[in-house]
Amino acid sequence: MTASDIGVSTRRPRISPLRYPGGKSALYSRLRKMIRDMDLAGCTYVEPYAGGVGGLDQTGNYKIDARFNRDGLAERIRILSLYAENIVPTSRDGIDVISEYAPKDDVFIYADPPYFEKAGSLYLNAFSATDHEDLARVLDSVADRPWVLTYDNAPQVAELYAARRRREFELHYSAHRVGKATEVAVLSESVPEIGQGWPLTPTT
Ligand SMILES: C[S@@+](CC[C@H](N)C(=O)[O-])C[C@H]1O[C@@H](n2cnc3c(N)ncnc32)[C@H](O)[C@@H]1O
Repeated sequence: MTASDIGVSTRRPRISPLRYPGGKSALYSRLRKMIRDMDLAGCTYVEPYAGGVGGLDQTGNYKIDARFNRDGLAERIRILSLYAENIVPTSRDGIDVISEYAPKDDVFIYADPPYFEKAGSLYLNAFSATDHEDLARVLDSVADRPWVLTYDNAPQVAELYAARRRREFELHYSAHRVGKATEVAVLSESVPEIGQGWPLTPTT
């Protein structure tokens, strides 16, 4: 998904393309602040791995209602529809989207790819080890551009992104586990340090 003008001020802090109830939506205000701090308000916001539900047959442990707040999502869609002219949904491969947009000016990329662990039970389209490596290679090639990547806190993140700043933070999930989950934010060279305002866990 790509969208321009997401950085424009809104009085409704929860209206975001990020879909996880109580989880990733917590990052919205943090990413917005980062975009503003970089003087990128009004830029093209690119989310190459936006949403989708896992499992068409609904026979798994985590059915669509595990993350489906019908009224809240309907309201969000109604409000987002006001910005429909500025939003471009696409079913393209995330790496293609990153490759196209990263070199452009006034672009911010937030990549939230399928996880290393449990991704197969969460998403219809999980990643293979090669997919994770390909993504790391592409992001590395545009390390000077403004992007943030979030992953589950798996050891592969430190291996694939050894050269990048990695910061652990906590999210409250309702998808594959209830309660807190530690995730990792990987930061490109051109985004500011995260800290105040992020639900960071103490680093050891
Ligand atoms: C961790 S989820 C991201 C969820 C999103 N941040 C949100 O809050 O809605 C990863 C998403 O990437 C999608 N995906 C898997 N392979 C992809 C690919 N090659 N290109 C783009 N998206 C992909 C999955 O279907 C899944 O919806």
